[in-house]
Formats: sequence, structure tokens, C-alpha cells
Amino acid sequence: MVDVRDRLQSFAVRWLEEHRGLVIVLFCLPASFLFDLAVRLLKTVERILWFHASHSDRVRSIQKEVRNWNALPKSERKLMCISKPNWMSLSTTFFPKDRCHRINVNFGNILELDENNLTLRTEPNVSIGEITDYLLRRGYMLAVCLEIKDATAGGLAFAVGMTTHSHKAGLYQETVVCFEVVLADGSLITVTKDNEHSDLFYCLPWSHGTLGFLVAVTLKIIKVKQYVRVNYIPVHSQEEYCKMLMDLSGANETGVETPDFLEATIYSKTDAVIMKGDFADVDSVQKWRKVNRASRWYKPWFYKHTEQFLHAAGEEYIPLKDYLFRHNRAIFWVLESMIPFGNHPFVRLLFGWLCPPKPAFLKFTTTQLVRQMTFKKQVFQDIVMPLATLKDQVDKATKLFDTFPLLVYPCRIYNHERGPQGQLRPPPSELLVPGTNYAIYNDLGIYGTPGPVRRKEKYNATYAMREMEKFTRDVGGYSFLYADVFMTENEFNEMFDMTLYNQMRKRYGGEGAFPNLFEKIKPEVDVIALGQED
Ligand SMILES: Cc1cc2nc3c(=O)[nH]c(=O)nc-3n(C[C@H](O)[C@H](O)[C@H](O)COP(=O)(O)OP(=O)(O)OC[C@H]3O[C@@H](n4cnc5c(N)ncnc54)[C@H](O)[C@@H]3O)c2cc1C
Ligand SMILES: *[C@@H]1O[C@H](CO)[C@@H](O)[C@H](O)[C@H]1NC(C)=O
Ligand SMILES: *[C@@H]1O[C@H](CO)[C@@H](O)[C@H](O)[C@H]1NC(C)=O
Ligand SMILES: *[C@@H]1O[C@H](CO)[C@@H](O)[C@H](O)[C@H]1NC(C)=O
Ligand SMILES: *[C@@H]1O[C@H](CO)[C@@H](O)[C@H](O)[C@H]1NC(C)=O
Repeated sequence: MVDVRDRLQSFAVRWLEEHRGLVIVLFCLPASFLFDLAVRLLKTVERILWFHASHSDRVRSIQKEVRNWNALPKSERKLMCISKPNWMSLSTTFFPKDRCHRINVNFGNILELDENNLTLRTEPNVSIGEITDYLLRRGYMLAVCLEIKDATAGGLAFAVGMTTHSHKAGLYQETVVCFEVVLADGSLITVTKDNEHSDLFYCLPWSHGTLGFLVAVTLKIIKVKQYVRVNYIPVHSQEEYCKMLMDLSGANETGVETPDFLEATIYSKTDAVIMKGDFADVDSVQKWRKVNRASRWYKPWFYKHTEQFLHAAGEEYIPLKDYLFRHNRAIFWVLESMIPFGNHPFVRLLFGWLCPPKPAFLKFTTTQLVRQMTFKKQVFQDIVMPLATLKDQVDKATKLFDTFPLLVYPCRIYNHERGPQGQLRPPPSELLVPGTNYAIYNDLGIYGTPGPVRRKEKYNATYAMREMEKFTRDVGGYSFLYADVFMTENEFNEMFDMTLYNQMRKRYGGEGAFPNLFEKIKPEVDVIALGQED
């Protein structure tokens, strides 16, 4: 009996694997659409219900909940975490929330736009899509505005964010002016770079909710123009694209003019398209002819569009919102491994408007089996490393994963000149741009199905991932923690500087109240054991 069931199950899994694209288009996309509609409806209802409550009322209710937790006998206190369900978060891991005491930080309102100081104060559970709509109407955008609409202001503040403007603005955390945090004892504090809690200021990013609850955050915004002029530059040698990115991002020289936006998509070890973008107005017929509404549903997936410029350089004017969310519809190039025929013009025309399937929906329907499959047969990583090591990064990633395209966003990493500065160490002095307090690093994005898996050869995900992580530690880089880490706790503590974080855990009562960072972010699956299986 069990045998028959096993065989049926494995047949079903094989069938689903082989016809996954079809299943996704015919079932998942429409279901994801309805699902999204339902979630939005819920959110609206929630907003109406909370309508009469002011922000400070809502904060007080959180403080009360936390104080109630403190009043429990010690033996009954489970560690605290936010109640946001796992499937709502963009992180790929499934933290076992049922083992925690869940606090609802369900704050979804934009609070205050300050046009003099160029800042936006917002509650944490507002999505980047919502914030961008709000700001663009008024002529602004977030200084670091993520490409994925579903990311939230609070999630990014307590994790990390990086975009094609980060070679100017740095990581998302550099754009935070003020955190408003409810601590383990229920007190509310504001945390800025130079108030009495400045030590905490540097540890809240990359803390994943293990130091307190975020109830509001103030972010830097910038003035915008309606369009981005994008220049697509094809490059056909590794040395050349590495050098060009160093030059364009100002990694090597003080005072060079850098473009407003900078990105490279690497299509093979030697071939890449570098995109430099600048804010622009479209005020002539010539320019108007070059307008590309790149994010319309029937348009080619952006990285496919970009690929054409491998053969000849080009210039386009992309409306700002289309530019900001250019990678949203194909989730960079993740959608291709789900719907291999999805970029066919006919499919785009009919189903393009249903894309992308909501990450929330994909996660909601992720079973243990699918999760194990994604571990063993896919790679999904963003890694921050010094741009000067780009050649080695690409060589290593090619050797281990052999999947293209690769994504490169240059980014400033600052030395705040204050001793330990949170989980990220100050960059080594030899990497600093002369005369400044920052070095240029880059995000290397590796998403897709590894070459050996595609060719049905042997592939050991645990080996490949752990090698990549070792390389990352060796060059002084950091893995984004929304993706699965394969490190042991010791290796993790080597990659990140936990000195100040551990002090902050003690000083602000985080110990015994919240899980520690490694516990919070480690995959729910024993990935090292997974490597022993065949
Ligand atoms: C498809 C995809 C594409 C991506 N693309 C990019 C990219 O281009 N650039 C980039 O930088 N990153 C990218 N990311 C990563 C993304 O930045 C992270 O997932 C980030 O954490 C934002 O996700 P979120 O808003 O869902 O945060 P969450 O996962 O909800 O939150 C992050 C952490 O903070 C905690 N937290 C959240 N809110 C609070 C609160 N109010 N109080 C206390 N703790 C809290 C959560 O428990 C969690 O541990 C991508 C991720 C995916 C899945
Ligand atoms: C954010 O909003 C969603 C939708 O309303 C809700 O389900 C979720 O719990 C909220 N997140 C947090 C952090 O509570
Ligand atoms: C904003 O700017 C004003 C002066 O324009 C200043 O008084 C105020 O303190 C600033 N606020 C913040 C939060 O920086
Ligand atoms: C950095 O600049 C120096 C001096 O201008 C030059 O010799 C060197 O080749 C540059 N390095 C890179 C990687 O561009
Ligand atoms: C996969 O790699 C890991 C780590 O290098 C190793 O421990 C494990 O034995 C390997 N598994 C197989 C099946 O070869």
C-alpha cells in the first residue's frame, strides 16, 4: 500500500516537474492573482478597522502586549517575534514561528513626508510598491528603492537592501535617518546616528528583528525626473567589464562623475551588458522616439531585452517607474526556470499581466518536497563582495554553479570611523576610494538552475554553496540573509562581526527575549545533512 502511494507520489512529482511551466501558467498565475486580490482586500479592511487608531495608539498597544509578555512567569515565556506569516516575507527560509510568542506589528501607513529635509517617515509594513506610488506623484523616490514591489520598508530596514543607485547612496541602511523601536521591556525609543542609542543604530540593520520591534522608520528620499536615459554598453571580455565597472562606479578615483544608476548583467564569463542610467526629461521628438515603456505586460522580460544589446550599443528613455520595477515581472530571471516558455510574445500578451506570481503565493504553496527540491536543484543568492574581486567572483560562481545571467550592482560600503560598526566591518583601508570613507563593493546575484542540474549531472548543492560562502568570507564579503545560508554558526560569526551586536543584545535586553541572529535566519532544513544524501 505504502509502496503504491510512494510510486504515485514520485510519478506525480516527476510529472509536475516536467510540466511545471504549464501548471504555473494555467493554475498558479490565476490563483496567485486571486490570492493577491484577497490579500489586498484584507489589508484594506484592516486599514479601515485601524482607521480611528492613531500611530501612537497602535504603538501603545504593542508596548502593552510586550509588557504582558514580561509579566508572564519566566518558564512560560517563549522568545518573541513578529506575527507576519512566513509566506508573506520575501525571505526564502521558513522560520518556525509557532515556537515563538508572536506580536502583531501590523502597521501599514505612511506617516509623514518632509520635503525640507527630504525624508519620509513610515510604518514598517508598507510595501515599496505603495511607497513608490506615493512618492512619484510628488516628484520623489526612496534613495534606495528596491526593484521588488513586495519588499517592505521595515523588512528592508532590519535586513538589507541594495539597488542600482547604491554606488551613490550605499545600502538601504545608509538611507535610514531614524528607527523607532519597541524594546524587549516594552519601552519605546528613537534611534539615530548621533543620539544616546547610536550604538544600536548600527546593529539594527541585518538584525532581523532580534533586538526589538520596529514601529516606524524615517528614510532619505531624492528628487526625480520623469525618465531615465539608459545607455546599454556591450562588453566582450572579462577584464574589460571589470575595469569599466570600477571606472563607472568611481571605485578607484576620487571625484569622478558617476551615473545615477549603474548595473551589469553578465551573460557568459566574457559577455556582459553594462547599463548606465541618468535622470532625464523627454523634451524633443528624437528623445520621444527612444521611449521604451519597459515594464508593460506585453514587453519582453527585461534581461532578455537587455541581451539584444550584446550585439550593438543602444540608448533608451525609460519612464522612471518602468525603470525602477524593470526586474519585477520576471523576478530578475527566476521566472524562466518556472515558466520556460513565458517570454514568448503570445504568452506575454495573454498572461503577462498576471506576472509575476506573488512571492507570497509561491511560498504559501511551497511544500516540504518543493522546498527540498529548491535546495538541491536551484540556487538563489545575493552576495556583497568588494568590486575589485569581481573577476574572481565570476570565475568562482561559474565553476560552482554555471548558471547565467549573473547580476552585478555596485554599492558603497562605508567606514563610519567609530570602532565596531555593527554586523558589517569597515572596509579595509586599501579598498577605500582615495580621500573618502567608503569602498565600492557589489552585489553578485546568482539565481537559477545550476548547469550540472540542467545537464542531469551530479550536483552537490551543499558543497557548492559552502564553497561559495568560503570564498565570500575569504574576500571579506557578506551573504544576504534572506537567502539560505549553509554556514555553521562559527563560520557565520566569522563572516559577520558580532562584537557590537552581542553587546547590544545584553544592553537592550534582547537576550532571552528574541532568538539570536543565527537562529533567526538559519534554514529550517538541515542543509549539511541534505548534502550527505544522494
Ligand atoms: C525575488 C526576490 C528579489 C529580491 N531582490 C532584491 C534586490 O534586488 N535587492 C536587494 O537588496 N534585495 C533583494 N531581495 C531581498 C530582500 O531585500 C529581502 O528579502 C528583504 O528582507 C525584504 O523583504 P521583506 O520586506 O519581505 O522583509 P521580511 O522578510 O519580512 O523582514 C526581514 C526581517 O526583519 C524582520 N522584521 C520585519 N519587520 C519587522 C518589524 N516591524 N519588527 C521587527 N522585525 C521585523 C523579519 O522577521 C525578518 O527577519 C530580494 C528577495 C527576493 C525573494
Ligand atoms: C503586514 O500586512 C499584512 C497584510 O495586511 C499582514 O498579513 C501582516 O501580518 C502584516 N505584517 C506584519 C509585520 O505584521
Ligand atoms: C528638518 O529641518 C528643519 C529645518 O529646516 C529642522 O529644524 C529640523 O530639526 C529637521 N528635522 C529633522 C528630523 O531632521
Ligand atoms: C586604479 O587606478 C590606478 C591609478 O589611476 C590604476 O593604475 C589602476 O589600474 C586602477 N585599477 C583599476 C582596477 O581600474
Ligand atoms: C556533498 O558535499 C558535502 C560538503 O562538501 C559533503 O560533506 C558530502 O559528503 C557531499 N555529498 C555527496 C553525496 O557527495
